[in-house]
Amino acid sequence: MKIYDLVVIGSGPGGYVCAIRASQLGIKTAIIEKYSSLGGTCLNVGCIPSKALLDSSHHYHDMVKNISSHGINVQGKISLDFKKMIERKNNVVSQTVKGIDFLMNKNNIDVYTGFASFVDDHTINIENEKKQKIKFKKCVIATGSKPATLPFINIDKQRIITSTEALSLCEIPKSLTIIGAGVIGLELGQVYNRLGSEVNIIEYSEKITPFMDNDISKELLKIFKKEKINFYLSSKVFDVNSNESNVIVKAENKSGEILEFVSDYCLVSVGRKPYTENLGLGCVGVNTDKFGKIIIDKQFKTTNEDIFAIGDVVNGPMLAHKAEEEGIAVAEILKNHKPHIDYNLVPNVIYTWPEVSSVGKTEQQLIEEKINYKKGSFPMRALGRSRASNDLSGFVKILADKKTDEILGVHIIGARAADLITEAVIAMEFKASCEDIAMMSHPHPTYSEGLKEAALAALENRALHI
Ligand code: FAD
Ligand code: NAI
Repeated sequence: MKIYDLVVIGSGPGGYVCAIRASQLGIKTAIIEKYSSLGGTCLNVGCIPSKALLDSSHHYHDMVKNISSHGINVQGKISLDFKKMIERKNNVVSQTVKGIDFLMNKNNIDVYTGFASFVDDHTINIENEKKQKIKFKKCVIATGSKPATLPFINIDKQRIITSTEALSLCEIPKSLTIIGAGVIGLELGQVYNRLGSEVNIIEYSEKITPFMDNDISKELLKIFKKEKINFYLSSKVFDVNSNESNVIVKAENKSGEILEFVSDYCLVSVGRKPYTENLGLGCVGVNTDKFGKIIIDKQFKTTNEDIFAIGDVVNGPMLAHKAEEEGIAVAEILKNHKPHIDYNLVPNVIYTWPEVSSVGKTEQQLIEEKINYKKGSFPMRALGRSRASNDLSGFVKILADKKTDEILGVHIIGARAADLITEAVIAMEFKASCEDIAMMSHPHPTYSEGLKEAALAALENRALHI
């Protein structure tokens, strides 16, 4: 039986990055993945395919709605080839996944395909045709997450679907009901709205993206309503039933009114849950909490000395870059390094258009934590770059300590917010103040000038262009 210094279970961004870093550090590593394609949720049915469809549908929407304002006239009817759009998305996925095969090979990481389960403290069974078993000195569990559902919903994958099926539909739905106005609901809701579906989103909370700063949620809601996406907030879904051709969703709003939605498909996007099914955690004494997340200490160590866990399967935001950082950290810990992750500085992004991004505290958190703060915000429409591209929606909002001026949170909604947030992450990593950002030269004309202006606004209202 082969013995490895490290065996990683799961090849998502947590697992494969952990394997690469371990190998770089001279640790003899193997990775086990139950599917034949590596890359986990993120590459196969998450980040990458959803962004591919967001980009394709954005092009279409721009052609139909915005292109004439740039003085470009398209002769004839613009038509959609949805099958080709999905094929392109599949090609993007397969190219990206092949890249991981290359990286495993380059780093001399042994890849096993099959379902892994613990046999004893240092042995793993791999369920495949060869019925393999391998031994490990240390193991990292990076088995990720699966879509969560509601107790009364039967996800039939035909009409009542999760994000996985929504990324590979055979037709553009005429109507789509979405349960949950979180990240998946909004990203995929916007994709299908752009392609012509009637989209109704039902949300339990009183705001969309409940984890985001209130001002951002409000602005995004306003923008989506203009795009004719329908929202039903403070509404509780209590019944979902499907037949061959449609789905009926029933919900009750806060006034006690019963709402009924009949649509081609219903996308259930009410969060994700850790995936540890049949892993045999009991055989190795690895404990989980009441949410099913694997319990770890600050060094990612589970309740078994030699087994660690990272990514979606443990506590914290379910994000690819968070999983990656943990993968790197755990490999370095195994080599007695002292890595550190500041979870307050893990940025959040929603890849709708306009994009949304944030890092650090929201205004509501600062109020709750009784921190004395000041704020500055600046509208995107006042930037020359925004007018040039005709991307006028949104704003930058900076929250800073009232006394020291240290930046505590940055929230952006607008064009390319996903890329802009990195400036805020760097600033906060170095404990920068609003004055630091305000003093730095930002290239003109760029959307990044919004950050400088918001920082100036936080400094006794010194914004220049408003
Ligand atoms: P996963 O990526 O879930 O990988 C776990 C792997 O383990 C899987 O391949 C699974 O097959 C394998 N596995 C599980 N059990 C076993 C077993 N017993 N034996 C062998 N293999 C096993 N995050 C972002 O940061 N940005 C985004 O834009 C983004 N978009 C998303 C869009 C969608 C539609 C979804 C669903 C998620 C998105 N996410 C995004 C979240 C992101 O995909 C996850 O946070 C990330 O993939 C978690 O990485 P992971 O390595 O912990 O687990
Ligand atoms: P989410 O946690 O973002 O949103 C779930 C939403 O469903 C919340 O708004 C919640 O209030 C609502 N909800 C819960 N129960 C409900 C009910 N009974 N009725 C109506 N609404 C209900 O989860 P989502 O969108 O499923 O995404 C899962 C994970 O995937 C997230 O943690 C996210 O971090 C990750 N992801 C990240 C992306 C990104 O970084 N851009 C993109 C897509 C997913």
